[in-house]
Amino acid sequence: MNTAAPQTIFLSNYMAPGWHVESVNLTFKLAPEATRVISRIAFTPNPDAPAQPFMLHGEELTLISAAIDGVAVSPDLTAAGLTCDVPDGAFIWEAEVEIAPVKNTALEGLYMSNGMYCTQCEAEGFRKITYYPDRPDVMGVFTVRIESDLPVLLSNGNATASGAGWAEWHDPWPKPAYLFALVAGDLVAHNDSFTTMEGRDVELNIWVRAADLDKCAFGMGALKRSMVWDEQVYGRAYDLDIFNIVAVDDFNMGAMENKGLNIFNSSAVLAKQSTSTDADFQRVEAIIAHEYFHNWTGNRITCRDWFQLCLKEGLTVFRDQSFTGDLHGHAVKRIEDALVMRNRQFQEDAGPLAHPVRPESFVEINNFYTVTVYEKGAELVGMLKRLVGDDGYRAALDLYFTRHDGQAATIEDWLAAFTDATDRDLTQFKRWYAQAGTPRLTVTDDFKNGTYSLHIAQQTPDTPGQTDKLPLHIPVAVGLLDDTGAEVVATTLLELTEAQQTFTFDGLASKPVPSILRDFSAPVIIERDVTQAEQAFLLTHDTDPFNRWDAGRSLARAVLLDMIANGGDLDAGYINGLRAALTDSTLDPAMRALLLAMPSEADMAIALAGQGQTPDPDAIHQTRRKAQRQLAEALATDIPAVLSSVRIDAPFAPDADQGGRRALSNSLLSLLTWADKGTAAQAQFDTADNMTQQLSALSILLAHGAGDAAAQAFYDQWHHDRLVLNKWFGVQISAAQPQDAVAVATRLTQHPDFEWKNPNRFRSVIGALTGNQAGFHRADGAGYDFVADWLIKLDPVNPQTTARMVAGFDSMRRWDDARREKMRSALTRIKDTPGLSRDTSEMVTRLLS
Ligand code: ARG
Ligand code: ZN
Repeated sequence: MNTAAPQTIFLSNYMAPGWHVESVNLTFKLAPEATRVISRIAFTPNPDAPAQPFMLHGEELTLISAAIDGVAVSPDLTAAGLTCDVPDGAFIWEAEVEIAPVKNTALEGLYMSNGMYCTQCEAEGFRKITYYPDRPDVMGVFTVRIESDLPVLLSNGNATASGAGWAEWHDPWPKPAYLFALVAGDLVAHNDSFTTMEGRDVELNIWVRAADLDKCAFGMGALKRSMVWDEQVYGRAYDLDIFNIVAVDDFNMGAMENKGLNIFNSSAVLAKQSTSTDADFQRVEAIIAHEYFHNWTGNRITCRDWFQLCLKEGLTVFRDQSFTGDLHGHAVKRIEDALVMRNRQFQEDAGPLAHPVRPESFVEINNFYTVTVYEKGAELVGMLKRLVGDDGYRAALDLYFTRHDGQAATIEDWLAAFTDATDRDLTQFKRWYAQAGTPRLTVTDDFKNGTYSLHIAQQTPDTPGQTDKLPLHIPVAVGLLDDTGAEVVATTLLELTEAQQTFTFDGLASKPVPSILRDFSAPVIIERDVTQAEQAFLLTHDTDPFNRWDAGRSLARAVLLDMIANGGDLDAGYINGLRAALTDSTLDPAMRALLLAMPSEADMAIALAGQGQTPDPDAIHQTRRKAQRQLAEALATDIPAVLSSVRIDAPFAPDADQGGRRALSNSLLSLLTWADKGTAAQAQFDTADNMTQQLSALSILLAHGAGDAAAQAFYDQWHHDRLVLNKWFGVQISAAQPQDAVAVATRLTQHPDFEWKNPNRFRSVIGALTGNQAGFHRADGAGYDFVADWLIKLDPVNPQTTARMVAGFDSMRRWDDARREKMRSALTRIKDTPGLSRDTSEMVTRLLS
């Protein structure tokens, strides 16, 4: 618990560190209640830094002894660490501290999970391990000795020596403390090897508990694919003799890129056919790639300070997105990424938690590992690449790597590499890093004497602490179609830099239909009066797969909103458009599944709020159900033929083709269930040989009120598997009807398997409820109270996960007064909890402001 008054940290107050660390030697004598950490750190003064007192960060440490150059010292202990008088020149700091990993339920620093020791140091967890300048611009060479009776003892870098009860590791690459890691446990390895393009042989291991050994093969393949891709696409090879991955059950986030020793939430690395869905396989591959790619973008070049977090995260997300696109197809991946932006990041931008991709202040940095820093950060990299072209991008990245290897860099450094490599002036582009909020582009057009004009105005709304935004440099990819659907102007990149600008296209025979923001070329909202006829036309003809899908999505949204406002039945034009797409065998099944998916309930609430209306979660839910039922009736005769055309005859493979086929057949199964009341879904549940089909059958049965037996059977089959059990908890809440969701969640929190201190399990219940829009936003406020009660209970145990989950309240402003008041009072109750963590208190304060 943090008792010190929370302090706000500002980017503008950055000060270079007073001392560099040349080398660090750490010895760990591991014991659950009383681990001893002995440190020996060689400091040298930093001649470029302003004069400042010597201070080391440290939290929840018991100092046993300290010495400078071999002479005992008595430092002044402060809330944040210690200060001490030090010699003028270089000196050796030595200290011994005691910590209690078994009591560390916050899962930050050194902690225990199922009898194994592990660490999570990003962002500021190393200060819970020993006294140290715990800031990313202090980079040292680490040597680590671990003493423990446990059989597997791991740290960063290369293994240098070991014996009975001890092991030593040396990492030759200077690194900040947040990349330190240690693991000790009774683990087994799935082992393999890789030869880099430089001819270095690398030992690869995925370390797990023995029972999980059959879930490692896919992740190992993903790791090798990542290593090859980074060599081929970025020219970057791995740089140690060994690369270790460890699966941990208790973990706050997805995974962590510690140098040479990536530590993963077990849900983000373990996968096999019978227990993992296609989405799980894709997520595992993407996260393994992401952490591996950090070795260059994050580790070899790290961040000067935590305000620069997007420097490594935005870039690394962009790299893992490109990797997934290269391996499995760019069109589908782009749509999935755009959905994350629109459903989650635009929502963050529109609410009280909005912040720039590079924030200017924070209280707790862990609260800024957000979809804005990560995913919008990745969009900024993608826009830069569009603006400078593929060759320019590669030249800029090459320059960035050569210039900054071994350094802790800034966004200024990053942009300078682009400017110097490509001669592009990015002064205006840089505003994207500083201005929060989603730009609105208002588009009108006209046609005269063969010239077509597009008039585009841009405006970015106010966000907390920011008004009067300046125009951004926005790449808008546009194509033009004639009325037969032929493309008369191929994709062209317009560069919008003014508040209002007109772009013209000459020599056209007739007024074209514009296809705007192709491939989602910028994270903006397009506002344009488009008829449903024009959307239907683009749904049929657009040559850009993203915009074709988007036209269908906009049409669906318009049709559903019309049903909410005016009642009536599902629009026939929309049904015909979907039938045409569904039966178009030239279209990828995955693409057809995406086209068939109606906008989510959250999407519709956001759309209504965007039109200045107050959404009604129940009306949205009921209308969407009615639309699905009517779509099912309308397509009933088409479904059987499509189903048999996408049947899979080959053995199971977690690849894009099979995944697309399963996605489409599951969408169709869901439609069929309106008529057959669950016969087909139950049959699929009973015979499924993979988790995608088993879980979607269960979800469909539950959504139709026919899932009780299947849910029990699922539990009986899988209760021994922690990851599958999370799905069992989650699906019952996600698929529950609005009036039942809180009761189902309440019942599940009383289940003996509800291990609420495990973040995955907690999220699978509490997070699933906040994700069930109509269930969470029940008019009587029972959803808010239930979630608030659990967050209050979790906060003293695990502040980080509590603070992340409280963000589920950030849609507050969108709802009617009565709901908003109930949300406010639930948040106020959290805020008024005595001893509330710094993490949660910052979030609640922002939400209530
Ligand atoms: N750097 C990690 C990743 O992007 C995220 C770790 C964040 N952890 C935290 N406690 N803030 O994969
Ligand atoms: Zn990352």
